[in-house]
Amino acid sequence: MDRNLALEFVRVTEAAAIAAADWIGRGDAMAADGAAVDAMRARFNDIDFSGRVVIGEGSKDEAPELYTGEKVGKGRKPLLDLAVDPLECTDSVAYGRANAMCVASSGPRGSLFSGPDTYMWKIAVGPKASKVIDLDATVASNLKKIAAALGKKVPDLTVIVLDRDRHVGLIAEIRKAGAKVRLITDGDVAAALATCIPGSGIDVLMGIGGSTEAVLAAVAIKILGGEILCRFKPKDDHHKGLLKKHSLNDRKIYCAEDLAKGKDLTFTATGVIDGPLLEGVRYANGDIITHSLVVRGQTETLRYITTHHRR
Ligand code: FBP
Repeated sequence: MDRNLALEFVRVTEAAAIAAADWIGRGDAMAADGAAVDAMRARFNDIDFSGRVVIGEGSKDEAPELYTGEKVGKGRKPLLDLAVDPLECTDSVAYGRANAMCVASSGPRGSLFSGPDTYMWKIAVGPKASKVIDLDATVASNLKKIAAALGKKVPDLTVIVLDRDRHVGLIAEIRKAGAKVRLITDGDVAAALATCIPGSGIDVLMGIGGSTEAVLAAVAIKILGGEILCRFKPKDDHHKGLLKKHSLNDRKIYCAEDLAKGKDLTFTATGVIDGPLLEGVRYANGDIITHSLVVRGQTETLRYITTHHRR
């Protein structure tokens, strides 16, 4: 990629975040998502590139815009695949809860895993612990190895987990092992990625979350040298059918490289509501202030961008 498109994509996620922020706490998840989708799509179509959405808002029949397979961009080259979540944590925005952001990631054609929108078991860590995790090992064993890799004691580890009934057993195991548990209502992309950010206070993500979110997180984790291991965990027969349709199974373990191949990757996110990774949209002195993170594979740079937008 000869241009730093990641920096052009920040305008895309900023626009989506500003649009979504208008819907904070209004109780209308569809409107919040729709506003982010419309803004993201319009900005993508302003950029001189040819993008194909491989992870988007469902199939064409389910979502009118930014559906998987949709083409965006106004140019011919570069040809890129896109994995997007115009609004990660739609409900958090609708009900004014923490941790929502707009995400766009890219890679060369064929580099990003494209699969059905179901669930995956995930474990994610930062660079120092990237070689020691094992999806089939016990929680206690993983935490012991991660702590050793980070030069910490297990009680000093913080494990972030989605607050769901399905995680009652997992949370009990983490507590029994002696680590700290941080529960979040939504948003395991930010949570997974936070493991790679020094000083985030998050050492490990564990649990079941969205499979498309796993791909998004994998792009940034891969660039930052961390690791995410995951395996499909379909929740019902419909989801099992989706896996079958895509010739996938619930046995294979995927690592970051399986989900996001190569070095020519970008990950851009803008906060809507404060979370472990980013501050949300702010309004001050007539400006709208956004906080974004841009990660670029070619140079392995991690940039934080604060933008003051004139109203
Ligand atoms: P959405 O904005 O698509 O609802 O995703 C929010 C989220 O919390 C993800 O971060 C997470 O991977 C997924 O939902 C978990 O799914 P569920 O809410 O069904 O447990």
